[in-house]
Amino acid sequence: MVSVVILAAGKGKRMRSKIPKMLHPLLGKPLLAYGIEAAVLLNPEEVTVVASPMVSEVVSGWTFGRPFSVAIQDPPLGTADAIRHGLPELSSSAGNVLIVPGDVPLIRADTLKTLVEQFEASHSVLTILGAEVADPFGYGRIVTASSGEVLRIVEESDATEEEKAIGFINSGIMIIDKETLAKTIQTVEADNAQKEFYLTDLAAIFRSKGLKVTAVRCEDPDEILGVNDRRQLGEVQRKLLQRIVAEWQVRGVTFVAPEDVYLEAGVKIGQDTVLEPGVFLRGQTEIGEDCRVGVGTVIEDSIIGDGVFIKPYSVIERSSIHDKATIGPFAHLRPESEIGNGAKVGNFVEVKKSKLAPGVKASHLTYLGDSTIGEGSNIGAGTITCNYDGIKKHPTTIGKDVFVGSNTALVAPVTVGDGAVIAAGSVITKKVPPNSLGVSRARQQNIYRWKKTKRDT
Ligand code: UD1
Ligand code: CA
Repeated sequence: MVSVVILAAGKGKRMRSKIPKMLHPLLGKPLLAYGIEAAVLLNPEEVTVVASPMVSEVVSGWTFGRPFSVAIQDPPLGTADAIRHGLPELSSSAGNVLIVPGDVPLIRADTLKTLVEQFEASHSVLTILGAEVADPFGYGRIVTASSGEVLRIVEESDATEEEKAIGFINSGIMIIDKETLAKTIQTVEADNAQKEFYLTDLAAIFRSKGLKVTAVRCEDPDEILGVNDRRQLGEVQRKLLQRIVAEWQVRGVTFVAPEDVYLEAGVKIGQDTVLEPGVFLRGQTEIGEDCRVGVGTVIEDSIIGDGVFIKPYSVIERSSIHDKATIGPFAHLRPESEIGNGAKVGNFVEVKKSKLAPGVKASHLTYLGDSTIGEGSNIGAGTITCNYDGIKKHPTTIGKDVFVGSNTALVAPVTVGDGAVIAAGSVITKKVPPNSLGVSRARQQNIYRWKKTKRDT
């Protein structure tokens, strides 16, 4: 029986931020969500998150497909003090407590499982997840006996030069027999350089009572990287991205420059799709098969069909694009736009809350807002839907097979019937009936012999 306590009440001073460290976004998700998600995969008996008042407000609204409680620790007096606040949230007194700091986002559920198994097999009261690292600076060092058993953990600020040379570090993740923990946690003192109640002191306390303390080596030291400052946040994000990119590569996605893309965890990509350098895919974005996403394109919360070609430097927000459409370069689809099969939205075209039916072409320099455009219609260069009268937004409805000449202004609300043609340069303020020509511009006059010549003067 395992219960989980997540530690998330620290100040996170080293981030130098107005935002609590636990809520800093990491590939679109708050840092804290990662540890909780990994722990929840073990299907533990109970989960409690020890949080600051500010973090508690946010965390209480999250769902992880199971109930969990939140304990408030204020002020944060150290990791042992955090456990003192978290323990009363766990109802049953039997079993084991898995402690996971909220700032170790790369940890995998499988590693946590192995830790639990090895703890159970070892008959110890405490098993620490450790790792051998090249640069142990900042971490607690695990001091072991020749038998491999743990003697104590010493924090960076309290370590002697000799102890600082130890490369075996504490991940902060540990599992403890619950009864022993409850009995001992009150005895931890803040007798150290930082004047904090260190959870890590438990190792020496248990040891002094003749209880067995062991450590498990994490195979991949990257998994236990802790985030204390922005440099570490950046490093962890880079590694997380590498993992996500590798997963999509295995599933058949090509990355022209795998190091130079940004993909959030909720993104999905179909087979044989190619992502060019500098692509940002955010939120719940789904891209179909056989697509190409051009250099510098940003897509957020959008659904893209199969065989879609998005040319460089396009921005797509909360929209959907159907199969074989072509977008960009330099196109901007704003929220609630829908681009039909095989449609084309070309360079310097902005679309907002508009539905373009299959085969519609808006190839250049156009603004389509609050509009509906029927199948096969062609929108000439420089067409503008004047959807805003200074107070309200109004719709523009264009039928099928309409030809809108260049530099047309459609003053909404306005309707253009199927098969209509609008002459270039028109300002359309009235309905254009089906199959008719709408012209609204001054007739051309030619004034002869207008140009002055030397003879005239
Ligand atoms: C801690 C460990 C260190 C380990 C490292 C791994 C202690 C004393 N040290 O150091 O041995 O190598 O993690 O990354 O445990 N927290 C609270 N309440 C508090 C203080 C902290 O909830 O009063 C939470 C923090 O939000 C964080 C976690 O506990 O999630 C660890 O705290 P942090 O201050 O980051 O400890 P480290 O200095 O990294
Ligand atoms: Ca830390």
